[in-house]
Amino acid sequence: MRNNQPVTNREQLFPEGEFLISKTDLTGTITYANRAFCRIAGYSEGELIGQPHNIVRHPDMPEAAFAELWHDVQNGQEWHGLVKNRCKNGDHYWVKATIMAELDAQGSILGYISVRRSPASAGMSSEECATALAELVANVVPASRPDGEAVDLVSEIPSETDQGL
Ligand SMILES: Cc1cc2nc3c(=O)[nH]c(=O)nc-3n(C[C@H](O)[C@H](O)[C@H](O)COP(=O)(O)O)c2cc1C
Repeated sequence: MRNNQPVTNREQLFPEGEFLISKTDLTGTITYANRAFCRIAGYSEGELIGQPHNIVRHPDMPEAAFAELWHDVQNGQEWHGLVKNRCKNGDHYWVKATIMAELDAQGSILGYISVRRSPASAGMSSEECATALAELVANVVPASRPDGEAVDLVSEIPSETDQGL
């Protein structure tokens, strides 16, 4: 688990009306990053391409969220979730991410693609994002309930469906 430091606790606001897009190969190495993503992350395109996607990981994000993400996309399902990402200078920004596999004509997975939009566009304030993440960390990180039942991880974060979007 990568622990990117330092963090400043300062938020960068998601650019209004834009989408942050990146693509990876099968191993999660970045192969494409759009300009909006580079800009808010604080990296040049050249600094991101060829790097593992955990370069933007924020240490507040629970490991369990990413385990679910990888499980879903490797099994051909889309993953939706709230993500707190770290900028190069330690600031952070919130995104509502959709991650899915990119398939060839035969249906084999070529790599993965992520499209991120602003939580505000889904009706969530930064405070609500922080609360949702804190609840996720408090409730889910043990990865199982006291009764031993496995937890459905990130779906406990309010989803677009929950918010009627
Ligand atoms: C297409 C795609 C996009 C991803 N986007 C992010 C992202 O924006 N932020 C992030 O922390 N991890 C993202 N990940 C997950 C990372 O690959 C990685 O699993 C995560 O950062 C945790 O890494 P670690 O366990 O090595 O610390 C993405 C993965 C894929 C396949």
